[in-house]
Amino acid sequence: MRIVLLGAPGAGKGTQCKGIAERYGLEHLSSGDILRQERAEESELGKKARQFMDSGELVPDNMIVEMMAHAINKAPKVGFVLDGFPRTVNQAIELDKSLEADGSRIDAVLNLQVDDGVIVKRITGRRSCPACGAVYHVENIRPKVDGVCDKCGEKLVQRTDDTEEVVLNRLKNYYQQTAAVVDYYRKNNSVYDIDANVAADEVLALIFEKLDSLVNV
Ligand code: AP5
Repeated sequence: MRIVLLGAPGAGKGTQCKGIAERYGLEHLSSGDILRQERAEESELGKKARQFMDSGELVPDNMIVEMMAHAINKAPKVGFVLDGFPRTVNQAIELDKSLEADGSRIDAVLNLQVDDGVIVKRITGRRSCPACGAVYHVENIRPKVDGVCDKCGEKLVQRTDDTEEVVLNRLKNYYQQTAAVVDYYRKNNSVYDIDANVAADEVLALIFEKLDSLVNV
């Protein structure tokens, strides 16, 4: 199964992808997580991506398309769930072309819909684990011990692009460049709109309902 999860910054893509990957045995491929890993390793790609990410701008398509093609090629044959990619129509077209070359295609697109006011609160309250990638929220999804990851005990951090100023720029770029990706997929693929304003476990239940009907679990 090859799934794309779409949604504005902070819509809950990373949170939901973890549950989806676990239930269906898929690889979770997050373009943001891969870029942050490249930054941590101080690779050439990571160094180039830093300025775009910290200001809330999109990293140029050519860098992203190559990076994600590499990640998809390495993913197990059972399939993947894409988080944060594609984010421009050009990226979606390039993804379709490379899947077609392999005789495959995107099977389902999930579109997480969240109000803008909710997004700013979610992102500015997010805390992430730099070691295992687990994601929490200071009010909504709290770790057992404040500031400490439940899974690996590492100290939680706030992402450098999670300030209110940068979030507003990310949202602007989402409407200018990424919203059109939903329309692109509506033309040729099954797109499922999901109300993601509700609690994370309720969102996951809505997603499972859709995906179970596709795979007959
Ligand atoms: P990326 O890391 O992809 O960031 P994003 O799309 O802005 O998405 P987020 O990670 O901020 O949010 P999310 O939807 O995953 O929400 P989460 O589950 O964490 O990209 C970062 C940067 O990298 C981009 O700005 C760009 O520069 C670059 N980049 C990446 N991909 C690119 C591409 N394809 N092309 C070009 N550039 C690219 O949840 C958010 C918070 O809310 C958490 O605290 C969580 O605990 C909480 N939460 C989640 N769900 C709920 C819920 N239902 N109820 C209450 N709280 C919830």
